[in-house]
Amino acid sequence: MKLTVVDHPLVQHKLAIIRDKNTGNKEFRELMEEVTMLMAYEAMRDLELDPVTIETPLTTMTAHMLSGKKLAVVAILRAGLIMVDGILKLVPAAKVGHIGLYRDPNTLQPVEYYCKLPSDIAERRVFLTDPMLATAGSAVHALSILKAKGAHHIKLMSIIAAPEGIKRVQEAHPDVEIVVAAVDSHLNDHGYIVPGLGDAGDRIYGTK
Ligand code: PRP
Ligand code: URA
Repeated sequence: MKLTVVDHPLVQHKLAIIRDKNTGNKEFRELMEEVTMLMAYEAMRDLELDPVTIETPLTTMTAHMLSGKKLAVVAILRAGLIMVDGILKLVPAAKVGHIGLYRDPNTLQPVEYYCKLPSDIAERRVFLTDPMLATAGSAVHALSILKAKGAHHIKLMSIIAAPEGIKRVQEAHPDVEIVVAAVDSHLNDHGYIVPGLGDAGDRIYGTK
């Protein structure tokens, strides 16, 4: 399935600051939200439009507005939460779901601890958010949860991805489009993306 890399100069500029180890939590959070908004602009390029008749101060015209197809943003906790507000600023009527996963530091396997989704998730176009796509254990697990609940039109939005993670999602969920801001070099022995940005959750919430 399609991989979109949103490498607009604004995104690359903000990502350089995000990656810098000297960037503090406040600026890190603000820039993650801004990058998410710029990515969402591309991720939502194929939203359906309906013609509407409106009156400008000069004349009547046919304009186009979003068709009202239902949207959902689903965040993989914790770090995926940082991407939700940026998307909601663009599509405020979207419903929000949460999937709580953490990666066991020894096995690198995802451990599920929470799941709350909109009851009509099967009818919604879903944007699944997690800033880091590393081994993809978390994303593949979250996508399986969404599909088990009936969701079938899903895009995965990650800010930085490793090639290994992209490949694994494409193999496990070939129908899911992936939208990222950067594809990095590789994973290190601890499953961290290199060069990456470090631990996203810790940098967002200051927990290190
Ligand atoms: C991080 C990140 C992803 C996951 C990516 O979460 O936010 O969810 O790791 O790694 P993977 O692709 O190898 O699964 P983490 O487990 O650190 O939990 P946190 O967001 O609660 O800190
Ligand atoms: N999780 C993170 O937060 N960072 C990585 O590089 C990999 C997984």
